[in-house]
Amino acid sequence: MGAINTVGVVGLGTMGAGIVEVFAKQGLATIAVEIDQSALDRGRAIVTSSTQRAVDRGRMSEQDAKDLVDSISFTLEFSDLAAADLVIEAVPERMSIKKDLFSRLDAVCPPETIFATNTSSLSVTDIAATTSRPDRLIGMHFFNPAPVMKLVEVVRTVLTAQEVVSRISELARACGKSPVVVGDRAGFVVNTLLVSYLNDAVNVFDQSRVSREGIDTAMTVGALLPMGPLALCDLIGLDVCLEIMDVLFAQSRDQVHAPAPLMREMVSAGLLGRKSGRGFFTYEKPGSGRVIPDELTPADFEPVTLPRQVYLVGDGMQCEELVKLCAQAGVSSHVVSYDQFDPGQVPEGVPVLVSVKPVQRAIDIATQMGPRIDEVIGLHVLFPNQKGQLVEIAATPFSSDRLVRISQSIALGASASPVICDDDSGQVVGRLLSPYLNDAVRMVASGYVSADDVDTAMMLGCGYPRGPIAFLANFSTPDTICDVLEQISRKTQLSRHLPVSALTDAAIYGVGIDQLLTESS
Ligand code: CAA
Repeated sequence: MGAINTVGVVGLGTMGAGIVEVFAKQGLATIAVEIDQSALDRGRAIVTSSTQRAVDRGRMSEQDAKDLVDSISFTLEFSDLAAADLVIEAVPERMSIKKDLFSRLDAVCPPETIFATNTSSLSVTDIAATTSRPDRLIGMHFFNPAPVMKLVEVVRTVLTAQEVVSRISELARACGKSPVVVGDRAGFVVNTLLVSYLNDAVNVFDQSRVSREGIDTAMTVGALLPMGPLALCDLIGLDVCLEIMDVLFAQSRDQVHAPAPLMREMVSAGLLGRKSGRGFFTYEKPGSGRVIPDELTPADFEPVTLPRQVYLVGDGMQCEELVKLCAQAGVSSHVVSYDQFDPGQVPEGVPVLVSVKPVQRAIDIATQMGPRIDEVIGLHVLFPNQKGQLVEIAATPFSSDRLVRISQSIALGASASPVICDDDSGQVVGRLLSPYLNDAVRMVASGYVSADDVDTAMMLGCGYPRGPIAFLANFSTPDTICDVLEQISRKTQLSRHLPVSALTDAAIYGVGIDQLLTESS
């Protein structure tokens, strides 16, 4: 087989147009095909505005941007694809459309042409089986935005020739991407972990008091993720997320993968995210990433007069962080440990702030307060990082509105980001991270992917600052995660939220999870 010099891309939606840009930037002859003139024009406009963005940022000259767009052969002529060494499709995610496309490609392209699919939810094996060249059909799964995200999941089926796997991996590398070769399981590596987490976030948003802004702030400031889960749903498209959850659910038949009812409702209503102009957030116009205010946008916060002193229950480093936070806001704190808390000692009118740990709940203290049950609230203060400092305000069902506002004012007074949530185990960050970490460990322990590859995939596919296994090894103790998972499972009634055995082993034997997974693989 010769080198890949000419590439055809069929379907110029967000992903297809991004893929065209990747290949054209690499200097490959790129043939971009759509079914009608308006779709072709839309595809060209996506590539043009993406390269214009590079010009605006001084990363590319006007001339180079123009040359790049001009170098692409935008065409409605399907038969032009006969010249391609590789044809990749990014058409809508329906098997009938893909089957029809590949049978037409089979008729047009010589037998040596490699076919690739950018599918994120269909079985690559099923697609391969419909072609006359199943050994030369492969998954080449890019991530949105394709010109930026460095990962390509190279999906091999049981029929794919090794040589094709090598050449596609090489091509991805030549385009500045990092390929990770994976088997053909629903969701592959990244979407299984990412979209399950997004689905979970939608359920938490739907079923608790945390706002959409709160969820996204918690995960960006508290977990250093590049985007919040709800903004990311909007970027990917809620219809795409729903399709992925549907296939994950069909494969696992586990309730944990059941698509969030709210997600399905929004897709039925046409609220697909950025592409339709409205999803969890509202955008300036369809296709834009600029969020504009809507009826859910919170009103400007009016700070309340802060008390001079608070009664602070807790111990350990997180409690010290809370003391610091109060001091920065000009509030002094009287600290007692959980064990020594005596409700009779709390002076009249002094609010009680409980320094909640991931598995600690403020309600345990509140219920000791008798008629003053509404004067207790939980605060979980994370350590400051480069994005600031997150304060999760864990309101019990009894916490007064005034106390919620006092807590917000303290956080804002200390220049931290407050997020109001329910008084549940893990608050927001721990609640959403723990099942994701558990899933990653399950995936590595099953032998589907190595610890290194899962870490690389999540960092390069989603822009995470570190992969799940490295996170567990360096930033978390397995026993805390296990405790949080057990409590989450108690609440959700989902057995898949229970810690996997590798995590409980790590907790019991005090062995690093990375070590345990390396030993077992
Ligand atoms: N097209 C081209 N370039 C883009 C772009 C786009 N749509 N969006 C951003 N960029 C470029 C910018 O030009 C900028 O480049 P420079 O730094 O060289 O100037 C760079 O990306 C960073 O952009 P911004 O400064 O505007 O914004 P940011 O720092 O917030 O980054 C982001 C934006 C790259 C999207 C970042 O938020 C991120 O990594 N988010 C996570 C995205 C993610 O998880 N993607 C995977 C989704 S799952 C998937 O796609 C698979 C599937 O099957 C569903």
